[in-house]
Amino acid sequence: MTGLFITFEGIDGAGKSSHLEATREWLQARGHEVLGTREPGGTPLAELLREAVLHRPMDALTEALLVFAARRDHLARVIEPALQRGITVLCDRFTDATFAYQGGGRGFDFGVLRQLEAWVQQGRQPDLTVWFDLPAEEAAVRRAAARSPDRFEQQGADFFERVRSGYQARADEQPQRYARIDARGDRATVWARVQRVLEARCVDRR
Ligand code: TYD
Repeated sequence: MTGLFITFEGIDGAGKSSHLEATREWLQARGHEVLGTREPGGTPLAELLREAVLHRPMDALTEALLVFAARRDHLARVIEPALQRGITVLCDRFTDATFAYQGGGRGFDFGVLRQLEAWVQQGRQPDLTVWFDLPAEEAAVRRAAARSPDRFEQQGADFFERVRSGYQARADEQPQRYARIDARGDRATVWARVQRVLEARCVDRR
């Protein structure tokens, strides 16, 4: 039995990271062996590319090529082997972030991104994508309390509304794998929503 491939998505400040660890524990309690990873990143090479993407100035095509190069390495060396061994992979961001940030945010052509996606992923898609959806203004308030911003976190609310629209467009295209979480409210309220999704979508492996 191959492992489940689960991704977490949302604009910066939507709060997805705080639910990743709880999700890992929830899955482990139900018998899943879980590998937690992130994008861009997840291998030594992909982490190098992450540094460049987050901190060096570049245009949207370069961004897209670098995140897909990082993704190729991550998929080939980490994600695919783990799934083949039956391990559940829990990934902080994946290709939907490229459609949302480079596509929605930067205005880069979705058609080109689809082509890169097809080359790099060879049909691999997450089984479940948990999208933490929050209005950009509310996410900006949450981000203001956080550490020093990277190239994306420096962007204004209009950029993040476009990123949010990018996620919405992907969710409309592939509704069967998407679970939208209303990310408003306190942590416990949002976690209860996440748990409902996990209960409905993740098999018990005990
Ligand atoms: P993020 O996942 O929010 O990590 P942290 O919580 O450590 O800041 O940061 C990754 C950033 O990279 C985020 O702003 C979105 C951006 N990104 C893209 O622009 N394209 C992509 O394909 C991916 C995976 C991320």
